[in-house]
Amino acid sequence: MVLSVISVMSMWTRVQPAYAANMWNEALNKRLGTEGLDLYGILDEIEKRGMSFDQLLTIPEQDEWVYSDGKSTTCVAFILEMYKEAGIFGSISNSIQVTEFTIRDAYTLKIFENNQTRLPKWCNNKDGKLPFCQILGEYRMELPQYNTIEPYANMNENCPSLPPSYDRPAQC
Ligand SMILES: *[C@@H]1O[C@H](CO)[C@@H](O)[C@H](O)[C@H]1NC(C)=O
Repeated sequence: MVLSVISVMSMWTRVQPAYAANMWNEALNKRLGTEGLDLYGILDEIEKRGMSFDQLLTIPEQDEWVYSDGKSTTCVAFILEMYKEAGIFGSISNSIQVTEFTIRDAYTLKIFENNQTRLPKWCNNKDGKLPFCQILGEYRMELPQYNTIEPYANMNENCPSLPPSYDRPAQC
């Protein structure tokens, strides 16, 4: 698995060196605290540190890392970053890296209104089948485990993510 990741990266580095730098070299350099190393430089560096490539890949992304084109985010990390700035994570805010959250991680957070009678009137859950407001869409969304997991420090920084089950151990 890890070997095949390296071979894809290595092939890409030869074919499209500029894209390779954009796609992962910068992120891997951030993890090592280095700058400007190419893939081979990175492999040398981890060998020097006695680290394996998969250990390098699993170092959590830090929200405050700034890349050459600015801060990096995903749709869900962008929303969670706003929640974080707004103080929703309270005293553990500094131990939450929202860039490690998936969409499922976001909606399973226990931070949402859990009393349906307090949801806004326009909310599209008139038949009471949804515990949340669905604003748009032809199909009714189901969000298993919506609003169930209390935020905790270093949340989602040690979760396995291998197919086929993608099971999420508690407190990972
Ligand atoms: C839900 O909210 C309503 C309106 O604020 C309140 O009257 C009711 O007691 C709440 N129910 C629960 C279980 O908290």
